[in-house]
Amino acid sequence: MTTTLITGANRGLGRETARQLLALGHTVYIGARDRARGEAAARELGARFVQLDVTDDASVAAAFAQLDADGGLNVLVNNAGISKLALNGPEALEVFDTNAVSIVRVTQAALPLLKKSANPVVVNVSSALGSFTANHDPARPASRYSAIVYGASKAAVSMLTVQYARAFPEIKFNAVEPGYTATGLGGADHSTGRPVEISARVIVRMATIGIDGPTGTFQEDDGELGW
Ligand SMILES: NC(=O)c1ccc[n+]([C@@H]2O[C@H](COP(=O)([O-])OP(=O)(O)OC[C@H]3O[C@@H](n4cnc5c(N)ncnc54)[C@H](OP(=O)(O)O)[C@@H]3O)[C@@H](O)[C@H]2O)c1
Repeated sequence: MTTTLITGANRGLGRETARQLLALGHTVYIGARDRARGEAAARELGARFVQLDVTDDASVAAAFAQLDADGGLNVLVNNAGISKLALNGPEALEVFDTNAVSIVRVTQAALPLLKKSANPVVVNVSSALGSFTANHDPARPASRYSAIVYGASKAAVSMLTVQYARAFPEIKFNAVEPGYTATGLGGADHSTGRPVEISARVIVRMATIGIDGPTGTFQEDDGELGW
């Protein structure tokens, strides 16, 4: 029995990842900051719900206390994220808090549970917009798209992945680039993005790696993406 928590799973890529992992037999917790939205998603998918605002220490502590009481955790998918185009201090702090600092907050709370698992796995949902390789490759859309704060926050996700993988070799930490996807991210028009069903596959692939799977890598559809 594999128990998986996905943050920000009431919609978008997180919700689709939950759907696919449930089909593979995982017990899935939908982490959502809004109880009504999260409970509705969990009910529709046949998942469990846990209230979890990744920017709120008390919410994170309560969520992991619930998971611990319920029996533990094997896989953590740090998926919750926001994008804001405005360039100012408060909004930059909000983006960094949600996308990057939350990975420290949630992962630290998850570590005691993950350490009890025989095959503990963490997947950090990042973006090619945070990849220096993709940002410098003229063939890649990331080299032509301006995302100053969002891109920087996802570059931080890369280093958090590398550092956590080194610090906790008994746990596998990998970052993934799901690809440009038709979700509500940032309230922008993402309708030209590809469907969540395709983009979630790389998240699922890395959430289901075996005991000999990689750690400290950045993955996309076709394999590894340069940092
Ligand atoms: N869509 C793309 O093209 C794309 C490309 C590369 C990477 N990504 C990444 O994929 C991940 C999922 O994004 P998405 O495209 O599925 O966007 P989305 O549809 O906007 O979903 C984002 C999810 O994160 C949740 N969330 C935001 N702030 C939160 C907080 N403080 N606590 C808990 N949950 C929070 C949202 O909850 P609410 O419903 O309460 O707002 C929502 O469930 C993000 O990390 C994003 O950066 C997306």
